[in-house]
Amino acid sequence: MPTPTVGTHARLTDVATCVSAAIETLELVSGTLKTPFLSSIASTSRSLLKSVETVKQNKTDCIHLLEQTHQLLYAIIALHLRSDTGGELSPIVLNHIGSFTETLQKIHHFVEAQQDKGWLKQFFRQAEMAALLKACNIGLQESLNFFQIQAISFAIDAAQDYAHKTHQEVLEMIHSLSDMHVSDTASSINRGLSSSESSSMSISMLPSEPQIFHGRDLELTDILSAFQKEPTRIAILGAGGMGKTSLARMVVHHPEVVARYDQRRVFVACDTTTTQVELAALIGAHVGLNAADSR
Ligand SMILES: Nc1ncnc2c1ncn2[C@@H]1O[C@H](COP(=O)(O)OP(=O)(O)OP(=O)(O)O)[C@@H](O)[C@H]1O
Ligand SMILES: [Mg+2]
Repeated sequence: MPTPTVGTHARLTDVATCVSAAIETLELVSGTLKTPFLSSIASTSRSLLKSVETVKQNKTDCIHLLEQTHQLLYAIIALHLRSDTGGELSPIVLNHIGSFTETLQKIHHFVEAQQDKGWLKQFFRQAEMAALLKACNIGLQESLNFFQIQAISFAIDAAQDYAHKTHQEVLEMIHSLSDMHVSDTASSINRGLSSSESSSMSISMLPSEPQIFHGRDLELTDILSAFQKEPTRIAILGAGGMGKTSLARMVVHHPEVVARYDQRRVFVACDTTTTQVELAALIGAHVGLNAADSR
C-alpha cells in the first residue's frame, strides 16, 4: 500500500476545505431554488468527501477526481448566481447537471471500491475499476467543457452589457457638450461645472488637427494676424465643402493660438442653432455660463 506523501496530504486538506464550503453553499441554493439534482449532488459529494479522506488505494486518482468535482460544484453554484436568470436554469443546463449527477455517483462508486479490502479481490476488479475510472474522467471532462463554455458566454454577455452602457454614456456626453440645444439638460451640465472645468472638458472635445491641409496658407496667416487684435471675430464663409471647418481646425491647433489661449480654446458646433439667442446661449453654455446669464 503506497503511503500518502506530504504533498498528497496537503492537496487533500485543501480540496476537502473547498469542497465542504461548496457543499454548504449548494445545500443553501438547493433549499431556496429547488433546482432538480442539487440535493442529490450535495449529499453524494458529502459522502464522496468522507470516502476520499479514508481511501487506501489510488489516493492520487481519488483526489484528482475530487478536485474536478469541486470545480463543477462551483460552476453549478455560479450558474444560479447569474442575475439575468433569476436562478431558473434552461433545460439543456439541467440536462448537463443531470449527467454530472450520474458521473458523481460513478466517482463515488470508484472511490468506495478503493478502500483496502484484500489484494485478491482488488486484483480481479482491476480491469473493471480502470473502465470505471475512465468513465468518470470522460464524464467530468464533458461537464467541465460544458460549464466552462457557459461561464465564457456569461463573461461575454457581461462585457457586451458594459460596452453598450459605456457607449450610451459617451453618446450622451457628446450630445450634451457639442450638439446641445438651449435646454435645461445642457445648462444644468454646465451649472455643475466651474468655468475652468467646463473649458477643459470642451478642450477634450476639440476636433483633431487636419492631417492633410494644403493651399490655404494665405487665409491661415490672415486669421492668425487678426488674432493679434482684440476682440477678434472672424467669419469663414464659403460654399459647402470648401474647407471652412478644416481651416478653423488648423487655427485652433496652431502653435501661436495654443501658446496664447491654451486651456481656453473651445470648439462649439453651431449647426443646430437657428437664432442669435440660441447661438449666444450655446456658446455661453460651452464657456460655463448658464441660460439665465446669457439673457
Ligand atoms: N486645405 C485643405 N487641404 C486638404 N483637404 C481639405 C482642405 N480643406 C478641406 N479639405 C477636405 O475637404 C473636405 C471638406 O472640408 P470641410 O469639412 O472643412 O469643408 P466645409 O467647408 O466645412 O464643409 P461644410 O460647408 O459642409 O461644413 C474634408 O474632407 C477635408 O478634409
Ligand atoms: Mg464645415
